[in-house]
Amino acid sequence: MVVKVPPSAKIVRKPRFARLPAPVLVRAMVFGSLFRSAPKPGGKILVAFASQTGAAETIAWRSANALAGASLVRVAALGSLTASEMAEAGTLLVVTSTYGAGEAPDSARAFERKQMAQQAALKGLNYAVLARGDRKYDATFCGFGQSVDRWLAASKARRLFDIICVDGDDDIAAMSKWCEQLTRLGATTSVEQLMPGPPQGWILAERRLLNPGSAGGETWHIALTPRELSQMVWTAGDIAEIWPRNSEAAVESFLRYHRLNGELSFRWHGHWTFLRDIIAHSRLPRPHEVEGIALEWLVERLESFPPREYSIASLPQSGRMELLVRKAVKDDGSLGLGSGWLTQTAEVGGVVKLRLRPNPNFQPPSDGSQILIGAGTGMAGLRAHLQYRQAMKLAGGWLLFGERGEKTDLYYADDIRAWQADGTLAKTDLVFSRDVSPKRYVQNLVTEQGEEIRSWIEAGASVLVCGGLQMAAGVQDALVALVGEGKLDQMTQDGLYRRDIY
Ligand SMILES: Cc1cc2nc3c(=O)[nH]c(=O)nc-3n(C[C@H](O)[C@H](O)[C@H](O)COP(=O)(O)OP(=O)(O)OC[C@H]3O[C@@H](n4cnc5c(N)ncnc54)[C@H](O)[C@@H]3O)c2cc1C
Ligand SMILES: Cc1cc2nc3c(=O)[nH]c(=O)nc-3n(C[C@H](O)[C@H](O)[C@H](O)COP(=O)(O)O)c2cc1C
Repeated sequence: MVVKVPPSAKIVRKPRFARLPAPVLVRAMVFGSLFRSAPKPGGKILVAFASQTGAAETIAWRSANALAGASLVRVAALGSLTASEMAEAGTLLVVTSTYGAGEAPDSARAFERKQMAQQAALKGLNYAVLARGDRKYDATFCGFGQSVDRWLAASKARRLFDIICVDGDDDIAAMSKWCEQLTRLGATTSVEQLMPGPPQGWILAERRLLNPGSAGGETWHIALTPRELSQMVWTAGDIAEIWPRNSEAAVESFLRYHRLNGELSFRWHGHWTFLRDIIAHSRLPRPHEVEGIALEWLVERLESFPPREYSIASLPQSGRMELLVRKAVKDDGSLGLGSGWLTQTAEVGGVVKLRLRPNPNFQPPSDGSQILIGAGTGMAGLRAHLQYRQAMKLAGGWLLFGERGEKTDLYYADDIRAWQADGTLAKTDLVFSRDVSPKRYVQNLVTEQGEEIRSWIEAGASVLVCGGLQMAAGVQDALVALVGEGKLDQMTQDGLYRRDIY
């Protein structure tokens, strides 16, 4: 069966990825109140962000950088703003994501509870909202962005244009609308400059089952090596966005069956990409779905696999990017798209495409003492932080970790022993739910160790939480009971309470 090749398709040797200049991120300005001086006279624009895993924050900074030539631009965390600061802004652009079930990211939770509980006096303020979300959350898609948009309108601010909802990293249609609107406000930019660059190629160097015989799902240690050393740039807390793919054999067979040239290059998700790569990262259509279709249409209609995020479990100094991945098995026995591919289908020695995502909300908060709380694959993010503290010779860590069985599920036991031996860990509390009756979890440990946790927090310790949503909610309830919601809000504002949760 032949798919028709249009005359506009190009044959190129290499994909012509648009190379983006590194974004100029001036983190020091986040909580400050600096206005960028503009070369041309222009109004004031306040770009406010609320982000959990860094994506909305990156867009906010890129948007601000693009606007800075024409206006006085200030960037601030939404959660750090008062209504009067917003009222004075002239124009407010909010870039936010949504978490939980339609809720605010951590840094804006207190803002939602306190400021958005009533209308503010924002007459005279122009505003617009870019909301990031994920359509798989359906009823709560971009829920928090929508709430902010409604609250600003109810507070009599003037909406410059309708809320723009963005579905994940590669929603080029929505980002093009945002780009158009920024251009109207005087920005000099392109949609490629606002969006993340193409994924990089890594090699799957090692895959090892860490918990044979566990009562829970399989957990795998995955190690990736870079194709280029320049890729080894991340810090503890950052995230790898993995692009699942079909096997090379399946891609070659698809190309052969449809007599297609994999070297043809198409614009795909904003970047020139080989047809071979497009097919690799898309659900393979069955022959009757594409019979007689023009190649351009085929590329347009291919349903690309959504990327999957994983907390990075190592530092670049180790020479490898390591992940801790739980293999998801669905009710029908089929494997989860991303975890199934990484832990079973991907070939060791083969290429893994991934994008690195800086995650400022989970990067090392301070050099002081630190309480690290997690369960299951949450060990991934905690391990990177403990490696960071070890490398920086920071003593005074306290690890509270929960899993199912001590014999099978104590991941990285050698690392834990080494951290205990050199003082990186001053205290370690482990709980294994299947080894005790009644079952106990890490949130129970937090309550049991309450007095000491409170005194660490009062002495200025930071708290990091990594792992599943349910565990994180239980830990949060336990912490609120210990120190109160106000203290936890303050710690969030000060960057001393940070979570990487999913
Ligand atoms: C910031 C962040 C960090 C993360 N870090 C880690 C980490 O360090 N380690 C880790 O293992 N995970 C991590 N995750 C989770 C990870 O991104 C994936 O969500 C996880 O691996 C499952 O994805 P999957 O593609 O394998 O499974 P999916 O294909 O998405 O399926 C996941 C589950 O959804 C259900 N499901 C989906 N489709 C169906 C269907 N058709 N029928 C029935 N049930 C269905 C099943 O319960 C299945 O088990 C993180 C997530 C985030 C957001
Ligand atoms: C645990 C969790 C819950 C989420 N809940 C929602 C939701 O209710 N609605 C939605 O649209 N997106 C939801 N998302 C998707 C995020 O909003 C989306 O990934 C966004 O791009 C993240 O941007 P950020 O990195 O700026 O936080 C959720 C993501 C996670 C990991």
